[in-house]
Amino acid sequence: MQGYIMPSKELILLPEQIQGIRESADVSIHIMDELDKRIEEGITTNQIDKWVSEMTKQAGAYAATLGYNGFPKSVCTSINECVCHGIPSERKLKDGDIINVDITTILNGYYSDMSRMYMIGNVSDDARRLVEVTKRCLEIGIEKVKPYTPIGNIGNAINDYADENGCSVVRALCGHGVGLNFHNEPMVEHFRTEEKTMIMVPGMVFTIEPMINLGDFDCEVLDDDWTVVTKDNSLSAQWEHTILVTQTGYEILTGGNK
Ligand code: MF3
Ligand code: CO
Ligand code: CO
Repeated sequence: MQGYIMPSKELILLPEQIQGIRESADVSIHIMDELDKRIEEGITTNQIDKWVSEMTKQAGAYAATLGYNGFPKSVCTSINECVCHGIPSERKLKDGDIINVDITTILNGYYSDMSRMYMIGNVSDDARRLVEVTKRCLEIGIEKVKPYTPIGNIGNAINDYADENGCSVVRALCGHGVGLNFHNEPMVEHFRTEEKTMIMVPGMVFTIEPMINLGDFDCEVLDDDWTVVTKDNSLSAQWEHTILVTQTGYEILTGGNK
């Protein structure tokens, strides 16, 4: 493993810390499962924000995005060509939309981060394929989580699968260490790299959250300073889980029974 980066010891979490993140993740899963039942044509993204805010409070938790570097809402809602960090508004979901809903819960100081896609009504074949390819990208990335192997294996596998399916991998935004903070090391890239990346060690917790585009990978940020969109206006999808590196492989902390 000559030349690969070893994690500093702060990145290897204690069993009680991991337990705290697990409990936070259970709240996130519960909220998303509720959203699964409620998100449909005609509702506004502000309504999703309200539901997340209420359910988070109900669980005795906090929404990490609210007030994070000035982000104004309790959830990110990213529709169609929006790659990520979409701000909830009075916009209504309409037939054919695809939307990513990304929540980060803080429970007893522990962070868990997850997102899912929703397809509203009858979506185009291309949109459905993108959502499915992106979900598979996340699964393929997770399957590469194994102790004492490089974290770069994740992005290499994701990039191969995206290429095979004629999709591109966003490069401007990455997965991240999570648990004691919202974002810390390691950076988890979803694209191919020849670099000697960090070695995964049991007790590390990070997200994998590939953003996959039907067109080019280039992105830009709108004037609201948050909303990231594809430069060519092509559709974009994303799925996210919080992952623990175990002695033998991984545990999907935000996975529930799914
Ligand atoms: N939840 C996002 C992530 O996966 C971060 C959102 S930050 C916000 O890392 F400020 F835009 F909410
Ligand atoms: Co994240
Ligand atoms: Co997230």
